[in-house]
Amino acid sequence: MSVQTGASRPAAAPQPRPGITSLPGYSRSAAKATVRWIASSNESPVPPSPAVLEAIAAAGKGANRYPSLAGDELVATVAARLGLDPGQMLAGAGSLALLQLLLSTYAGPGDEVIYAWRSYEAYPILVGAAGAAAVEIPLDAAARHDLDAMAAAVTEATRAVIVCSPNNPTGTVVDRGELVGFLHRVPPHVLVVLDEAYREFTLPGDEGVGLLADFPNLAILRTFSKAYGLAGLRAGYLAASADIAANLRRAALPFPVSRVAVAAAVVAWAEPDRMAATVAQIVAERDYLAARLHDRGIRVPRSGGNFLWIPAGPRARELEAACLDQSVSVRAFDGEGVRVTLGGREATAAVLAAVDTVPGLAAAIQNPLPAPAGA
Ligand SMILES: Cc1ncc(COP(=O)(O)O)c(C=O)c1O
Repeated sequence: MSVQTGASRPAAAPQPRPGITSLPGYSRSAAKATVRWIASSNESPVPPSPAVLEAIAAAGKGANRYPSLAGDELVATVAARLGLDPGQMLAGAGSLALLQLLLSTYAGPGDEVIYAWRSYEAYPILVGAAGAAAVEIPLDAAARHDLDAMAAAVTEATRAVIVCSPNNPTGTVVDRGELVGFLHRVPPHVLVVLDEAYREFTLPGDEGVGLLADFPNLAILRTFSKAYGLAGLRAGYLAASADIAANLRRAALPFPVSRVAVAAAVVAWAEPDRMAATVAQIVAERDYLAARLHDRGIRVPRSGGNFLWIPAGPRARELEAACLDQSVSVRAFDGEGVRVTLGGREATAAVLAAVDTVPGLAAAIQNPLPAPAGA
């Protein structure tokens, strides 16, 4: 055993891989426990159905046993309705776990991963944690993905491109025609990850899943956290080519989804009318808030999610504080804007009351955008 001294002496504590200590952190929503309306995390305001609660209780009784090796029942249930082979799918503890698996399996040191920015705050963290370099392509003036710039940014080092549609936090949607055009421009050896966490809130709801047959480099992420209202249980799924799915299974942890989460997700999946009713309620509230903001001269991007983006620019923190004063927690991004998750009409009224206490907000809005539908 050798003991080193002086300059060559190793650090006194274990050190993570380069880059880990400089990763950005996830933001926390302000004072969740003390607010009346939580509009900061894009969750569903609707608690689980009685049938889901029953399934949770029943599954809990078997908690002394491991769940299936790979969320098998959930995979089979979802694959059947989507018309996919179960071999093309994986289940995970939320779609985020599956994104981490994708990135760490397909990218590493020396590789690049492209995504739009601003987008979901997990992307820089997970790309960095995989050891790859993030290439962030600014959203265009309408807060949409700049797909031309994203395609042009592909280099020999690019391993993956993430497309977030609807985009968190701006809500903007990449429509099917745009996506197909983009997929034709990305070389077939580059993975395209389509993050569809909010897809159910986009009407009409055509599915990226239909593109898998034509684009074997496409991987689609979906979740039970948003429209299905199971954020607290952690369940999501991935659909891709059988080849991508097989590679991911090689690198995946066993038992990725708990018995309770599998049972709840399978029952929630079997209640599509309930999910559709929740979505319809949220979409109506989203359009109402967009129209009331428009009445006040505040134009927001048309959203396909369960949230709206108010591009308040330098007034973002002020608006966040005004919302907290009205007992609503929202998500503010410094100097950029505020994301409001839709809930019930009372919460919307509180947000509007907050907006009315920030003088000159309309003038601070960045990138004036077209009027929302029905405004
Ligand atoms: C775009 C996007 N993708 C993925 C997720 C994470 O979803 P899950 O709960 O399935 O991990 C979120 C959550 O906010 C999100 O906004």
